[in-house]
Amino acid sequence: MENENTGAVRRIGVLTSGGDAPGMNAAIRSVVRSAYRRGIECIGIRRGWAGLISGDFAPMTGSDVSRIINRGGTVLYTARSDEFRTEAGQQKAAATCKLLGLEGIVAIGGDGTFRGALDLSRYGVSVVGIPGTIDNDIGCTDYTIGFDTAANTAVDCIDRLRDTMQSHERCAVVEVMGRHAGYLALHVGVAVGATAVLVPEYPYNFDEHVAEKIRRARLSGKTNFIIVVAEGAVSAVSVGEQIRAELGLDPRVTILGHIQRGGAPTVKDRVMATRMGYEAVRLLSEGKTNRIICAEGDKIVDRDIAEALQMKKTLNPEEFKVMTVMTGT
Ligand code: F6P
Repeated sequence: MENENTGAVRRIGVLTSGGDAPGMNAAIRSVVRSAYRRGIECIGIRRGWAGLISGDFAPMTGSDVSRIINRGGTVLYTARSDEFRTEAGQQKAAATCKLLGLEGIVAIGGDGTFRGALDLSRYGVSVVGIPGTIDNDIGCTDYTIGFDTAANTAVDCIDRLRDTMQSHERCAVVEVMGRHAGYLALHVGVAVGATAVLVPEYPYNFDEHVAEKIRRARLSGKTNFIIVVAEGAVSAVSVGEQIRAELGLDPRVTILGHIQRGGAPTVKDRVMATRMGYEAVRLLSEGKTNRIICAEGDKIVDRDIAEALQMKKTLNPEEFKVMTVMTGT
């Protein structure tokens, strides 16, 4: 085995925190195997920051991560920890790192996870974050692990709905995840040829964003309609009620919910997770800290955590424009 370790790092930890996302296991596997390749021992921390506080861990070798690249969820479990937001909680987590001899932590998750990593770094632990969330809502990176799988799952579900909506000449209102971000709804909406797409980034207007689009679709001869709603935009149930009351249709409302967070990761998510895991370990082994691994186009780059957390993400205007053209306005 060629030892690629260029620094003096001997042991690191890896954890997943916040909402799970398909591809997190591929990232864990990559971290463990990349660390091994560099002669670095890897400890799996279970249940995110909460596990670092309570000392819930297990050493991970290359064979421990066999056969997980294809599995959704996270084998390390995940959690959201209120205690870790307190100074006392952070001190306990830092004490665990000291006890275990962890010189670095790779934290896989979203913005909340990265804020936690930044807090921990103040106690002298090196940290690197890997973006994993189906929402693709992290400002510093073009891509987050899990988005592609979730979008494909939602598209698969809506394609099935379309069959029955076509047969009955009905309207389907489908809610996809995205509490603060419309990326998932926008991509899914374009991919299924939706009649309308509602995202949290644009204030909801029933007449303009739904009624007018259904009217135009009807005039062009369509008899079934798919309305894709991001959960943070407006309640899909209330959109259905308005369609019934104001347009005289008999819509069916489907909330896809956590179905979108499960399932085997796509090729894209497996490859991105593997590339990001490799890069995270490379940075730690070179003594770097406070970095987030980001996708910039086709490239994997890294950014300072504090700066990255200031970056805001807006919907890609070109993608949004294409959606508005495809939905008829
Ligand atoms: O992973 C992000 C996200 O999927 C949001 O879109 C959603 O609102 C949230 O997680 C729900 O997560 P949970 O049910 O785990 O709190």
